[in-house]
Amino acid sequence: MKIIETVTGAEAGARAAELIAGLVRRAPTAVLGLATGSSPLPLYAALAGMDPALGRVRGFSLDEYLGLGPADEMSYARVIRREVIERLGLDPALVRTPDGLAEDPIREAADFDRRIRDAGGIDLQILGIGSNGHLAFNEPPSAFTSRTRVVELAASTRLDNARFFDSAADVPSHAITQGLGTIAEARHLLLLAHGEGKAGAVARAVEGPVTEDFPASLIQRHPHVTLFLDSAAASRLQRARV
Ligand code: GLP
Repeated sequence: MKIIETVTGAEAGARAAELIAGLVRRAPTAVLGLATGSSPLPLYAALAGMDPALGRVRGFSLDEYLGLGPADEMSYARVIRREVIERLGLDPALVRTPDGLAEDPIREAADFDRRIRDAGGIDLQILGIGSNGHLAFNEPPSAFTSRTRVVELAASTRLDNARFFDSAADVPSHAITQGLGTIAEARHLLLLAHGEGKAGAVARAVEGPVTEDFPASLIQRHPHVTLFLDSAAASRLQRARV
């Protein structure tokens, strides 16, 4: 695991963007796993001003709220369209987010998992981390072998995410999320975190026990992980970083 610590979240995002630009230079049709939330925003902002063009890159979002579709301002499909597809010039036909309005969400989840496999798997998965240790919407506890599926959100996650909605009661109760097993199959995990509020979760993910009770601890078992942290998010780590 490589940990890159910078003073600000913007610098961390810029370093992460360089890594992705390098991947796309080598592999213009690379498959990216795309994350929402505030953590990857500095990365997307930095990548927007870089070469090469990303028009042939393929993308799979991590998750989506159940009951929200691309027309909903709060849906992840909408956020990915605004922050990633439009900002970075991806081809919308090559980017897929689970359909939160699917008639049969269980089937939608299984289809989504299969589509990732059919694309040859994810080359690089962008990740944030929830304050309770969730990855995507894999709440504690989640099986390390779990696949893309329908999940119920933890009360703490609904509170954390209430800032994007009118109230906590408006945050959907369920979501479709890539599973931990799905995420672990990505060839490279790139996790971003900034701010003091993430310091405890980052320390547990990197240095705590590997347990399904703290889903982000999965990264300790993965052969290729890069963390981009600002100094506040890295402040509770014991180990050396570069
Ligand atoms: C959400 C998302 C996660 C994200 C996490 C952290 O619940 N489902 O994929 O990593 O929250 O969000 P933020 O980056 O805004 O702190």
